[in-house]
Amino acid sequence: MKADEAVKKRARELAEQLNRHNYLYHTLDAPEISDDEYDALFRELRDLEEKWPELATPDSPTARIGSGVLPGLERKRHTQRMYGLDNVFSAEEWQAFVERIQRLWAKEGEGGLETAFWCDPKLDGLAVELVYEQGRLTQALTRGDGESGEVVTAQARLIRNLPLVFMGAGPWPDMIEVRGEVVIFRKDFVELNERQARHGLKIFANPRNAAAGTLRQLDLEVAGSRPLRFLAYGIGAVEWGSAIPCETQAGLAERFSAWGLQIPPSGKLCLTPSDVVEYVEWARVNRDSFPMEIDGVVAKLNSLAAQRKIGFTGRAPRFAVAFKFPALEAETRLLNIEIQVGRTGALTPVAILEPVPVGGVMVSRATLHNEDEIRLLDLRIGDIVHVRRAGDVIPEVTGPVLSKRPEDAREFRFPGVCPACGQPVHREPDEAVWRCDNLACPARNLRTVMHFVSSAGLDIKGLGEKWIERLIDAGIIRSPADTLYLKAEDLQDFERMGPVLANKFVESVRTAVRNATLARLIGALGIRLVGAHVAQNLAAHFHDLGEVAAASREELLAVPDVGPEVAASIADFFATPANRETLARMRAAGLWPVSQEHEPAEGPLSGKSVLFTGVLSRPRSWFQERAAEAGAKLASSVGKGLDYLVAGDKPGSKLQKAQNLGLKILNEEQFLNLLKEGENG
Ligand code: IVH
Repeated sequence: MKADEAVKKRARELAEQLNRHNYLYHTLDAPEISDDEYDALFRELRDLEEKWPELATPDSPTARIGSGVLPGLERKRHTQRMYGLDNVFSAEEWQAFVERIQRLWAKEGEGGLETAFWCDPKLDGLAVELVYEQGRLTQALTRGDGESGEVVTAQARLIRNLPLVFMGAGPWPDMIEVRGEVVIFRKDFVELNERQARHGLKIFANPRNAAAGTLRQLDLEVAGSRPLRFLAYGIGAVEWGSAIPCETQAGLAERFSAWGLQIPPSGKLCLTPSDVVEYVEWARVNRDSFPMEIDGVVAKLNSLAAQRKIGFTGRAPRFAVAFKFPALEAETRLLNIEIQVGRTGALTPVAILEPVPVGGVMVSRATLHNEDEIRLLDLRIGDIVHVRRAGDVIPEVTGPVLSKRPEDAREFRFPGVCPACGQPVHREPDEAVWRCDNLACPARNLRTVMHFVSSAGLDIKGLGEKWIERLIDAGIIRSPADTLYLKAEDLQDFERMGPVLANKFVESVRTAVRNATLARLIGALGIRLVGAHVAQNLAAHFHDLGEVAAASREELLAVPDVGPEVAASIADFFATPANRETLARMRAAGLWPVSQEHEPAEGPLSGKSVLFTGVLSRPRSWFQERAAEAGAKLASSVGKGLDYLVAGDKPGSKLQKAQNLGLKILNEEQFLNLLKEGENG
């Protein structure tokens, strides 16, 4: 059966609405409806398309969920070569560039050149050309070597901020090659790497690499799950047809926006060459507030007719230039390598450098990541090294300058013992990091306690790192729980502490305990691979820390974003006796928040507590969900307050204990009958 007119009309309406909301969300960053409302529209359209497959066009918003695997990447020639850009690094070089254009122009005998430039940020991603025919996306090609690139049409169709069909009523050009950059925004990049880490997948070195890898990704489900964006800044070949031709870069930017394409942020028409210098200075100062990584400004002569006249050299346009920011890289001497111990016991090598300014900031320390990295870079102490500072991240050493290696440069040997506690360290065969496993290691302790009191943890204000260090050295603090028991008397006798600071700290502990939520507390524990996001999911799923601690692997895996590695890390944490003791002491100190999102439902088991034990016919989490839906509270241990123990095969000690206490014990069937009673009544 074919879809009737009413159905077709509804499908068109839904596609239009979805396209519009997609645009509001991904391009303008200004959504008008909630994710749930969007999902409802999406599902309605997908259901219609499932019922009437002829409605499912390749341009449909439902086609933007990637699926399938491509056999490989095909190469194809560009209709017009995609050039690179020449660089200038200073106002003087810029001035020389402008004078050269003016000379070229004069040679053509065209009279005075209007030196207005369209300026926008130089994006650090990869260049791509999209072909739109009659307003429909038909091809995407990477820049490649400029002459030919790789066909990435299927991957590009999954980029959410790019229109599959131009917005507005047209008329659109018969054919237009839109050039631009595929990038990943910084905040999306952080989330992407967090997600990769949670799933035990590769961590990307920078947004550019992640974007390049994703665009060439053959598995479209993977490509579709990554946050790529396309920003349009130029054109290749174009057949305007009945559309009004565009004559300036500024006009192109306007046209792109009207068609629903995103353009680089903060682009500006600069009327004179010195306005360009001012714009570059503004962009440099504000570099870190751009949503994506940028490494300069691209200045393009505004008039497209003048661009055509002035033309290209063998490798770059003469009418445009990249005005690069001063390098965020410098050379300096590697004086030493120190080892820092983190709260998970990870030993991180840190480069101690002869202080050097990098992008306006003095740098004297930089991360070296791990032992393999040092070997891979072939770093020796005494080497002259490249230091790089990208955006607001920690400076890193990117390699030695081999031609300047001194005779006496010496190799670094990773220590076999922890520099803080002297205990032997170990390295798992499939891991790059050495770890100190000594839970009582003072350096680990310091980091654990610092995390616990930090704003990422319980946000206990008043004591800085130096004080925590002194309290650990004095044996007053051995674990995070000890901070809860500090009394002003314990503190005030320390030199330079005094009663004011001591009381302030004790007071802020009290406040933090009062305000602690379960999500915060879980985050504060510093469990490896459990950041704020996973902590929140755990808190929504479990009633209290006791439940998290008692959860089985299956139960943990049922929590969103908890994969096998995260589940194992959580299990390890709670299996460690020292951590169990810490939890007990937190509980005794009144720090035991219960989940706020985990309100029991109304149902036949309202007000009853239930515990499952032994092997059941389905995953335990399935039974727990049924129980929770029926209003039951899920207990974590057998005690007098327990209403029902549901026992499967091999129930073990819990059954024994429940029998001793004379509690009500059910088998699976009896439990399911209890739920049914509710339905009938
Ligand atoms: S316009 C003919 N604008 O930089 C001039 N290019 O180093 C075409 N790039 O391959 C380029 N941001 O992909 C232009 N705002 C921007 C850009 C930009 C980054 C890339 C471009 C080119 C590379 C040259």
